Amino acid sequence: YSATLTLDPAFVVGPVRRRTFGSFVEHLGRCVYTGIHDPDHPTADADGFRGDVLDLTRELGVTTVRYPGGNFVSGYRWEDGVGPVGERPTRLDLAWHSSDPNLVGVDEFMRWADKADVEPMMAVNLGTRGVQEALDLLEYCNVPGGSAWSDRRRANGVEEPYRIKMWCLGNEMDGPWQIGHKTAHEYGRLAAETARAMRLMDPGLELVVCGSSSSDMPTFGEWERVVLTETYEHVDHVSAHAYYWEEDGDLASFLASAVDMDHFVESVAATADAVRAAGKHEKRIHISFDEWNVWYQKRAESRPPSGDDWPVAPVLLEDRYNVADAVVVGNLLISLLRHTDRVHAASLAQLVNVIAPIMTEPGGRSWRQTTFHPFALTARHAAGDVLRVAVESPAEETARFGDVPVLDAVATHDPGTGDVVVFAVNRSTTTPVDLDVDLRGFPGLRLLDARTLSNPDHTWQATADDATSVGPVPNTSAKVADDRARAELPPVSWSVLRLG
Ligand code: AHR
Repeated sequence: YSATLTLDPAFVVGPVRRRTFGSFVEHLGRCVYTGIHDPDHPTADADGFRGDVLDLTRELGVTTVRYPGGNFVSGYRWEDGVGPVGERPTRLDLAWHSSDPNLVGVDEFMRWADKADVEPMMAVNLGTRGVQEALDLLEYCNVPGGSAWSDRRRANGVEEPYRIKMWCLGNEMDGPWQIGHKTAHEYGRLAAETARAMRLMDPGLELVVCGSSSSDMPTFGEWERVVLTETYEHVDHVSAHAYYWEEDGDLASFLASAVDMDHFVESVAATADAVRAAGKHEKRIHISFDEWNVWYQKRAESRPPSGDDWPVAPVLLEDRYNVADAVVVGNLLISLLRHTDRVHAASLAQLVNVIAPIMTEPGGRSWRQTTFHPFALTARHAAGDVLRVAVESPAEETARFGDVPVLDAVATHDPGTGDVVVFAVNRSTTTPVDLDVDLRGFPGLRLLDARTLSNPDHTWQATADDATSVGPVPNTSAKVADDRARAELPPVSWSVLRLG
């Protein structure tokens, strides 16, 4: 196959937003306990946080972290997690049929976020709770002092307010599995009143209202219309969640998952704009794609315990990712970047152990999954403006999405340094692509680096024993001459070309 990309500095979609590279820490399985927090680990600091995981989090380039859930938040009493650790109750977590000893709560998470150098994104419980409890948590976090909850924070040793800016108004309230699941009308009213009250306490907040849990939800579209009609003036972002997996061996459809993400973003943006027009609103609502990833939901380890078994930090959702999964993750980031005009934040779900790029053994080793690499390289190298690229590519037929171009790509241009970076995937399962990038708008660029992640066996997975024998390696076919960049992209591959 041959494919062409044409780049021009005038075709700017919008800035690369650092919040696109967010992630997610939920009280679920081993994400918190034995994930970020493992006091007996040799690298643990005085707060019990694993140093190796902090290092990997920084290397991943994560910018924001959503907390504490997820489905967990819809049954969470945040007050259980503050004050002396020895006095905190153990609670049943109904979402994941587990027990939570509350060793980590808001104050511990904020200490971890500070060490990891990430912006927190806090979620409030609108499942079993409502306006008052959300206000109490906001007061605890953001009010300097002189009130009951802010003084409780100071008594707990945190003098300065956290001033957390991003807040999620519940989680996946459209899902029948959600504790306290609501209709769009019920949720829309509750979210509007919670948002209005939270802004009375802190007008500077950025609020995220729940959109759909996937584009397959029967209420997709109508949910957004009703919820945004109720909340439009009170919120800034609507959330989107999407998980993808290879089903029944249909690799071609799986590799084309970004087609669904494109459709998701464009449908939600269109719905938000329709509500804007009908309500004669001025501002625009943006999208917080605050859960996205590959997740093999039908595998046994995705099923929570049952009966009288309520374990602390069970093994749950510990997907092992292969090379094809990493190519899809890289492609989903391409989709998020090309929609940077509407997607203002995103969170790879999740960060550690639970459908995660970082894996740990309790008290032992940690390693990078295959999906770690496209995320880290995109977070590191995407800079400046996102460019709209013209793609000419052959297409292959997929069972789920019809004909899909085998090449998908996005580019960024940093006007400060002049650097151009191309992120590209070859979604063909069989055929290499000769990529030809027309750089006529950028005369004189030279190749700084080209890296490709692929493997003859796309089912290769990283393990604690071998996490390094497959990873992004220099693509020696890449060349730049006469204002054109060329590279051969193997089937099922993700690549980054850096030009400067
Ligand atoms: O990320 C795992 C789960 O997926 C989250 O708890 C929930 O919000 C979603 O359904």
